[in-house]
Amino acid sequence: MAVPKDGRQPSQPGRQDVVPYGPGTGLPAGNAGGEELVLADDPGRKNYTLSEVLDKVILGDALEVLPKIPEASVDMVFLDPPYFLQLPKKELRRWTVKTVVEGVNDAWDRFVSFEAYDAFIGRLLSLAKRVMKPRATIWAIATYHSIFRIGRLMQDLGFWILNDVLWVKSNPMPNWLGVRFTNATETLIWAVGDRRVKGYTFNREAAREFGMGKIGANVWILPICTGAERLKDEQGKKLHSTQKPAELLRRVILTSTHEGDVVLDPVAGVGTTGYVARQLRRRFIMVEINRRYVEGIKRRFS
Ligand SMILES: C[S@@+](CC[C@H](N)C(=O)[O-])C[C@H]1O[C@@H](n2cnc3c(N)ncnc32)[C@H](O)[C@@H]1O
Repeated sequence: MAVPKDGRQPSQPGRQDVVPYGPGTGLPAGNAGGEELVLADDPGRKNYTLSEVLDKVILGDALEVLPKIPEASVDMVFLDPPYFLQLPKKELRRWTVKTVVEGVNDAWDRFVSFEAYDAFIGRLLSLAKRVMKPRATIWAIATYHSIFRIGRLMQDLGFWILNDVLWVKSNPMPNWLGVRFTNATETLIWAVGDRRVKGYTFNREAAREFGMGKIGANVWILPICTGAERLKDEQGKKLHSTQKPAELLRRVILTSTHEGDVVLDPVAGVGTTGYVARQLRRRFIMVEINRRYVEGIKRRFS
């Protein structure tokens, strides 16, 4: 099957569960209507000034929005893209307690093939690279389902990997069928845009404090996002299936940025990155395609 350049099928991921924006949707295109936090991407605009997008959540498709953001304008990128989990359609019951597993089965996580997934991630990474300042760094996070592909794509695009950081979940989702290890980790890749980059921000005291043992090794042990921190929908169910814990972002931001730096999250979900960035007195630019999540971000910020 021919795959479009951006890696997505016309009806594939992200697209189906996207509530459109602009005329007739109650959310204005552009920044009209007094929306302070949210800027709905205006398809008619070719570019935005930095001040237009700073401290904003842009409701739109990152592949269309990123090219409109000024080149070399951000100090750090946090990329938490779709995982392409490919979970089986059948109901999964836990091995020990027999409860049903609520896996990630969102439309935005579905791609027709690895080729399609790679094309999407490759495009996102290239667009992110264009907006990175020369000494900016980028973090990419995923599970074993896709982190190896993302790492390879990063290297092929010239990124230079500085570290991988292993997030060990102290409260992982229990295993269900009992046929393999319970997966309790996600991997973060931390990189610069090019191997010659020197002078990137690394706050080593923060790294030592967060890392494992006295030397601050590249292992972070912290729980997944649960309880009051987890954003809920109208039915009291979790609003986003993969909301990251604020503590993870706190560690990422404190180790790799200074106050006043600009942090970009092009696939923001319910906005954990910008939410923590603001608390830590950093600036942010977030992009998210799904209006429900953007509404969640608005609630979170208010
Ligand atoms: C793994 S989640 C990010 C979760 C986020 N870090 C948080 O803590 O809430 C990936 C997000 O990418 C969004 N997404 C997928 N394709 C996108 C696109 N083309 N442009 C913008 N957002 C997209 C999905 O809607 C989803 O919310």
